[in-house]
Amino acid sequence: MSSGAGDKVAGGVSGGPSAGVPLDQLTLALRVVMMPKDTNHYNTIFGGVILSYIDQAAFVQARRHANRKWLTVAVDRVEFKAPVFSGDTVDFLTRTVRTGTTSVTVEVDVEAERYDTGQRVSVTAARLVMVCVDHANKPVPFTQESPDGHA
Ligand SMILES: CC(C)(COP(=O)(O)OP(=O)(O)OC[C@H]1O[C@@H](n2cnc3c(N)ncnc32)[C@H](O)[C@@H]1OP(=O)(O)O)[C@@H](O)C(=O)NCCC(=O)NCCS
Repeated sequence: MSSGAGDKVAGGVSGGPSAGVPLDQLTLALRVVMMPKDTNHYNTIFGGVILSYIDQAAFVQARRHANRKWLTVAVDRVEFKAPVFSGDTVDFLTRTVRTGTTSVTVEVDVEAERYDTGQRVSVTAARLVMVCVDHANKPVPFTQESPDGHA
């Protein structure tokens, strides 16, 4: 999904559950300490574990737009740039790069703070599309109030 000319980019703040968070600037969505159970046979963190947290971080960002039900419809790009190790503290930073009618496109930047040196390293980047849906999982404009007032 492109964020080129013509795309709408969220610029301000929303009335969602995290009102006041600047939606177009990288903001902490999740912070996790990686555990030995998450490692693969190379003793680094399994990429699927990182992907799972990326998905959750994108959900947190989507909920900042509206306190509604959101589904992941696409993971457009994931780049694993450096390994993550057991004991690292890992930040999942998010920003919205495009708002549509029923969807938002979210970038997730993943930064690890090394457990031994404290050095911060950019380890993974991803872009996801999240869709706002109703109880029947039908896409709905996320700016509309839920009819029953619930997510
Ligand atoms: C999310 C879902 C309800 C969307 O249904 P759909 O029929 O594709 O919906 P639409 O065609 O009306 O598109 C809805 C929005 O999603 C966007 N979209 C749909 N498919 C997309 C794709 N492959 N990539 C990027 N955006 C996409 C559309 O552009 C539209 O955005 P807009 O309203 O902001 O313009 C449906 O695809 C679904 O249920 N998917 C499974 C979701 C899920 O279970 N995720 C968990 C991971 S297993």
